[in-house]
Amino acid sequence: MSLPQPSGARLLSLGTSLPDNVVTNDDLAERVDTTHDWIVDRTGIQERRIGGTTSGLATDASRQAIERSGIDPSTIDLLILATTSPDRRVPATASTVQENLGLSCGAMDLNAACSGFVYGLIAAHGFINLGHRRILVVGAETLSRITNWDDRSTCILFADGAGAAVIERTDGEGDLKGWHVASNGALEDTLFCEFDGKLIMSGGAIFKNAVLAMERSALHSLEMADLTPDDIDLVVPHQANVRIVEASCKRLGIPFEKTSMTIHRTGNTSSASVPLALDHALQENRISKDDNVLLVGFGAGMTSASAVLKWNGV
Ligand code: UT7
Repeated sequence: MSLPQPSGARLLSLGTSLPDNVVTNDDLAERVDTTHDWIVDRTGIQERRIGGTTSGLATDASRQAIERSGIDPSTIDLLILATTSPDRRVPATASTVQENLGLSCGAMDLNAACSGFVYGLIAAHGFINLGHRRILVVGAETLSRITNWDDRSTCILFADGAGAAVIERTDGEGDLKGWHVASNGALEDTLFCEFDGKLIMSGGAIFKNAVLAMERSALHSLEMADLTPDDIDLVVPHQANVRIVEASCKRLGIPFEKTSMTIHRTGNTSSASVPLALDHALQENRISKDDNVLLVGFGAGMTSASAVLKWNGV
């Protein structure tokens, strides 16, 4: 078998899953020295969902994405699961999800922290160029398992959830017009979690670098797509802090009203946050055919990633 001609890909469908258990800011204020108003003012978060397993949330989101796409699941060639909170060290949680879904395809985990889903989406395009036809890209997290619930600077932020997308090879024009991935390992100590430890974060350092990284990454992708910030119809940013998104949009000259935000009810779900916010925009009918959609994420590493999609109308 020889290598196929490079080809584009389309996003066919999305699916999401959030745990039932809602934890409010007032719930957290009973445990640590904080208030609902402080959390809303400084982060935009009003509540978050906690519970389940990474494989369970990923499975539920994937089932919904597959169902919405109408494809036969046995035609999926690869499952890429972006996560920083796998069920176990070994094997990859992607293999558990594969078994849950009854798939017989390649399966792997990808850890690029909160940029993970966008990294996964871009990697999927690479695999499609190498001949794969259908790929399931999932971002799923149970950050509650690695959160220190006595640390008020982190426990107010992190939460659980999953989002999944079915990507398909197309002979026509593909969705992806520009992309960018980066990592600055010099900043690795700004957010980390040792094996069997809990997340430790330098919030201020991440904040400052996140704003710059999102702007830089978005500009790279826009340049590749031959677009300017004015051409963007919708921004789907990583949901870490509403003030980070506001500051990044300001630097890019994109009105904040063009963003899809879920952080107020989901908190920061790391690699799940971009697909959750993308699906939210779709459910709200905020994306039309041929819209230019900018996905942009940043996270521990510090990683960043972005993608410009020309929406194909799904
Ligand atoms: O996916 C990427 C992951 N992480 C991030 O994106 C995090 C980025 N950073 C942030 O979102 C913000 O830095 C935080 C929300 C973590 C903190 O907000 P901030 O406005 O940067 O506050 P700060 O760290 O400058 O702290 C200001 C004050 C401090 O008190 P003092 O030292 O001025 O007396 C903190 O101890 O706020 C205090 N503080 C809190 N007060 C009430 C920190 N956390 C809390 C809290 N409730 N939960």
